[in-house]
Amino acid sequence: MTDTKKSIHGEWSSRSAFILAATGSAVGLGNIWKFPYITGENGGGAFVMVYLLCVALIGIPIMIAETMLGRRGRENPVHTMQVLSVEAGADNNWRYLGWLGMVAGLLILSYYSVIAGWASAYVFKAFSGSFFAADVTAIEQLFRDFIGSPMQLIFWHTLFMAATLLIVARGVGNGLEKSVRFLMPALFVLLALLLIYAMTTSGYFQGIHFLFSLDFSKLSGNAILIAMGQAFFSLGLGMGCVMVYGAYLPKDISIAKASILIAAVDTLVALLAGIIIFPIVFTHGLNPGSGPGLIFETLPIAFGTMTGGWLFGVLFFVILVFAALSSAIALIEPTVAWLVESRGMSRERACLQSGLVTWLLGFVTIFSFNVWADFKIFGLTLFDLLDYVTANLMLPIGGLAIAVFAGWKMKRQHSEQELGLPNPHYQIWQFLIKYIAPAAVFLVFLDVVGVL
Ligand code: PHE
Repeated sequence: MTDTKKSIHGEWSSRSAFILAATGSAVGLGNIWKFPYITGENGGGAFVMVYLLCVALIGIPIMIAETMLGRRGRENPVHTMQVLSVEAGADNNWRYLGWLGMVAGLLILSYYSVIAGWASAYVFKAFSGSFFAADVTAIEQLFRDFIGSPMQLIFWHTLFMAATLLIVARGVGNGLEKSVRFLMPALFVLLALLLIYAMTTSGYFQGIHFLFSLDFSKLSGNAILIAMGQAFFSLGLGMGCVMVYGAYLPKDISIAKASILIAAVDTLVALLAGIIIFPIVFTHGLNPGSGPGLIFETLPIAFGTMTGGWLFGVLFFVILVFAALSSAIALIEPTVAWLVESRGMSRERACLQSGLVTWLLGFVTIFSFNVWADFKIFGLTLFDLLDYVTANLMLPIGGLAIAVFAGWKMKRQHSEQELGLPNPHYQIWQFLIKYIAPAAVFLVFLDVVGVL
């Protein structure tokens, strides 16, 4: 591999462009919608603690590894793995890692887009004043009526998919980079405002207590797997999207520093979302474990009662939709890059085809909230099952493979050269990626199947 090899899709224009785009891919519904509701379902503090440990010990080392593989391979995940396994003298089957990632990305996007559709619909509900002076039951009813209507969900899902594809069709520099530049600061400002609101509620300390007090008796093996899956999901790891973003990364950027920064921002946003949501939950006697509707049943109460709530409500959901968009484009990019590079398709056509498949798959999620709501496998609705299999199984398996490849297969001199880390930083990363991250993922799997 030569140092001058570049991706045919272009490169990030600067270090900040990469960090913005990678943060855009990390920060999304996973932080604001998913983190609070799964924390609520899994009992709070102890779950959060395991999540944080997973981010630090598994997430960050794997993020560094995945970015590194992408930058060295400089192509779509399938090809990158092929090129790198030749270079490392490893088995050609490593390319299936790329396949696993593409499938996981499309499956995740199929439901991600439906939920992002909910957020889009809530922009208009906020705009039309639906939350104003509404009581808790009215807000809950509003949400139930909404998800009970397949036609409405289809409409918003379609709109969101169309927006995603439009951005992706325009390519790296134009589409991906610009859409995140204003997003993060705006998101932080609104979260700060909501935080101030949450601090004035009577349930604030109860919320904080729920989020940070450690009661390990509430923690099941399955909850540990969910926490680990969430670390992968929230950082966007294990499915090749960090790998393709890495492929567009110029040589002179420190991968380790960028990864730590991105993980820190991502974690901060998730924790902020929790600190905002749970006080509202406890102030109004709601159930923290009410599931995927949690933010749609809590935040409108805040917007309906706080000063300026109308404006903040509209802005909040607009920003949430944009945050979801910048993640959605990352979910589909590995497949699009593969179709363009390996199948010789135009970017437009690649977007259209992969988008169509994803859009259709989205119907499974849509119906699982209404017409198929009673259809359950292992006690999970089809949406829950899809989410479980992708986030808790496919992403960690992908991550495990990345760790094994980067730690054991790739030549040490190559990873040293890519990362450019002084010792002992390089040695710490090596230790984490070779031993800690793979062992942790493996143990969590064993625990869930009941071996431990
Ligand atoms: N990290 C995104 C979020 O938290 C979702 C995502 C998962 C994006 C996997 C890319 C890859 O919303």
